[in-house]
Amino acid sequence: MGGMKVYLETLGCQMNKLDSELLAGALRADGHEIIADRTAADAVVYNTCSVRRHAEDKVHSRIGADAKRKRHHRPRLIIAVIGCMAQRLGAALRRRYPEVDVVCGPSRLGELPALLAAAAGGEAAIAVAPERRDAPQPPAEPPDALDLARDPTATPNAAQAYVRVARGCDNFCTYCIVPYVRGPEVSRDPARIAEEVRRLVDAGRSEITLLGQTVNRYRRRADGRLVRFSDLLARLSPIDGLRRLRFVTSHPLEFTDDILEAMRDLPNVCEYVHCPAQSGSDAVLKRMNRRYTRAAYDDLVDRTRAIVPGVVLAGDFIVGFPGETEDDHAASADLIRRSGYKNSFVFKYSPRDGTAAARTLTDDVPEAVKRRRNNELLAVQAETGLAHHEHHVGQTLEVLVEGPSARAARRPDTAPGATQLTGRTRGDHIVVFDADASLAGRYVDVQITGATALTLFGQLRQ
Ligand code: SAH
Ligand code: SF4
Ligand code: F3S
Repeated sequence: MGGMKVYLETLGCQMNKLDSELLAGALRADGHEIIADRTAADAVVYNTCSVRRHAEDKVHSRIGADAKRKRHHRPRLIIAVIGCMAQRLGAALRRRYPEVDVVCGPSRLGELPALLAAAAGGEAAIAVAPERRDAPQPPAEPPDALDLARDPTATPNAAQAYVRVARGCDNFCTYCIVPYVRGPEVSRDPARIAEEVRRLVDAGRSEITLLGQTVNRYRRRADGRLVRFSDLLARLSPIDGLRRLRFVTSHPLEFTDDILEAMRDLPNVCEYVHCPAQSGSDAVLKRMNRRYTRAAYDDLVDRTRAIVPGVVLAGDFIVGFPGETEDDHAASADLIRRSGYKNSFVFKYSPRDGTAAARTLTDDVPEAVKRRRNNELLAVQAETGLAHHEHHVGQTLEVLVEGPSARAARRPDTAPGATQLTGRTRGDHIVVFDADASLAGRYVDVQITGATALTLFGQLRQ
């Protein structure tokens, strides 16, 4: 059954964006149309995130507005909530909003086209995985039917694509909801991953980013032997036409030298490591259940810089975790300086129901202190990022052109052959330069002439 106009909105991480991309493909294959105007839709689908309270608040306001519209003007409107918040709240979502027709968790997205069709016939459904503590057995095979069925020409960007290598997470960092909503960590079969990458590259996608919550801990038994993450990189690297191979997000635990050596030795594996530290203080790391020490993280940074020339590092930090003192906070600032990150994401701690931290630790850092610490870490990161970017002034870097910059899009440049374009280096730097917009999707050399904390500026080398 097809013919529905579907509005699909995505919140949350890259994992969710990939899920939405695959889902949009499946819905189109079923004869539905994906539209950008929410008010014209027969079905609205929200792919949701639970990682912080703010992410959930946004969804509540969307559903609230749609539920009202459905009550007053559009009784046949289908409302579907999918993704992590759907998994977390399950039936409670329908109790709170009886207008919601479909609640579907991340592990069951393959069922969504059928669930929407049923909803059109008046049948509501809740499709979520059993609560994690009730389901000790991990699934033998991660559900990857959507991944395998994807249309390799339907990626949002003609030069780049994301490929899932593992699902779920088993780390149970005490603040984090992801292990509960995404389920057990399971690595995909390397042959299936290679096949998906090959199809994408054959369709012209020359930069592939491998996705996993702790991607460096990929491991899978295949053909009688263990395939580690470094083995997976070695298997994918020779694919003809694959110019850049990247991966996110890494976990500091088990980031072993074989991975760093693979990054050094495989020419198309990019020198970029996003490896969140979360805190620079041992006491906080312990309460977070990160299972590494500050010294071990420092050692990882040193090994990475020693083995992979020119490597670029990025991080995540949480400020205001329960019990965080001014000294703990200063240790995080020090870690940013020491690591020399290109950029860091900084988040204020947000207690999530069901996590160990929410159960056992008091959210005792006042909001105003969280805000100040957030700003202080961002300021230290801005200084560090500026020094990192300035280091590249004078160099010539290879840039994969993405397209016109946001500024160029707002103020179209009328001079022929001179649009402000943006692109990315192998190290994930954002580069802004003037050139012909037809270069989108191509690799060019750019001479770097200037830098800010987040951006490089340059001129096209002829
Ligand atoms: N798997 C990845 C990232 C998962 S979530 C990793 O382990 O690095 C992305 C980021 O959100 C985390 O790195 C963390 O910094 C932040 N985060 C997760 N839970 C949070 C919470 N309860 N409050 C604030 N930030 C949180
Ligand atoms: Fe969350 Fe930790 Fe897993 Fe990352 S490693 S998804 S922060 S539990
Ligand atoms: Fe959010 Fe789920 Fe990703 S909780 S961060 S969308 S895995």
